[in-house]
Amino acid sequence: MKAITYRNYGTPEVLRLEELPKPEPKANEILVKIYATAVNSGDYRLRKPDPQVVRLVFGLFKPRNPILGIVFSGEVEAIGKNVTKFRVGDKIYGMSGMKMSTYAEYICLSESATIDIIPDSMPKEEAATIPFGTMTAYHFLTKSKIKSGDKVLIYGASGSVGVAAIQLAKAFGAEVTAICSSVNSDLVKKLGANHVINYDKQDFTDTKETFDIVFDTLGKYVPNTFLPLLKMNGCLILCNASAAQMFWALWKNLTTKYTFLIGVSSEAVENLKAISKLISENHISAVIDKRFPLESMSLAHTYVEAGHKKGNVLIDISPAKVI
Ligand SMILES: NC(=O)c1ccc[n+]([C@@H]2O[C@H](COP(=O)([O-])OP(=O)(O)OC[C@H]3O[C@@H](n4cnc5c(N)ncnc54)[C@H](OP(=O)(O)O)[C@@H]3O)[C@@H](O)[C@H]2O)c1
Repeated sequence: MKAITYRNYGTPEVLRLEELPKPEPKANEILVKIYATAVNSGDYRLRKPDPQVVRLVFGLFKPRNPILGIVFSGEVEAIGKNVTKFRVGDKIYGMSGMKMSTYAEYICLSESATIDIIPDSMPKEEAATIPFGTMTAYHFLTKSKIKSGDKVLIYGASGSVGVAAIQLAKAFGAEVTAICSSVNSDLVKKLGANHVINYDKQDFTDTKETFDIVFDTLGKYVPNTFLPLLKMNGCLILCNASAAQMFWALWKNLTTKYTFLIGVSSEAVENLKAISKLISENHISAVIDKRFPLESMSLAHTYVEAGHKKGNVLIDISPAKVI
């Protein structure tokens, strides 16, 4: 099978096309023929790596697993003898988590991995762009106990997590204020944002409004910056907190009336199923900036690493057959 590998850490040029053996499913696994994957912010950070401490987990001198990629959409091509949840031909999407390996034509995954059937309304390849941002936004927004009528401020509203957070917050009945650059105003409004603040035209800290939930998807400011924007008992989500900011948040959780949410997003399959339902109810759609073929992975990494993508970058691998 074709796969994009990174045999060494480094610039996008370390990503190479290779021919590798097609994997075979174990008794509890499914073999997935991958339609598409996506390049996410986490992927280029692992490739570099950034931070260097990544080496302790993913390989000290060179990557232990040479295939990046954690999201996919595809079709079940074969199943192990004990598999009961999926059938050959099922069109599925999901996340491979720490196993990664979705920059390839095939992957074997446990049937209990973060996988669900692609909702009928979702274009099959585009489904690959849903899990990264939407699972993250869903995890943090549900933990924040978001409810109808809440006022939610989303910083970094045009990124993968941001575009999902807007759509989810709207689905939960919130009033959304999105912070993004001027070029992305139309995008965030189309996704449902009630109000937009362009960070290149206006200092968002000048706003006199306060919010039940402030969702900082990017971590470009010290968390203190957002405190004046929180209502009493409000919740600050720090999706990209540094280690020092995590300690700060834990301390503030103990000593203030605010709630601070940090940590790693859950990959629970129930969350993906809840997202599938929201897709079927037309609350969530894929937001795709650019598409690249698998062979152009290094170009895709260069583009994503520049930090200006709108929503998601899709990588086409094997198109789904239209029946
Ligand atoms: N905690 C977790 O489990 C978890 C899970 C997933 C992701 N994350 C983290 O979440 C962060 C966001 O990920 P992502 O994939 O959503 O990022 P992303 O898609 O790469 O973000 C890019 C977007 O940010 C906008 N942007 C750049 N500079 C900005 C600024 N100064 N102010 C406001 N917007 C700006 C860009 O548009 P413009 O340049 O036009 O403004 C672009 O639309 C990442 O750092 C990732 O590591 C954490």
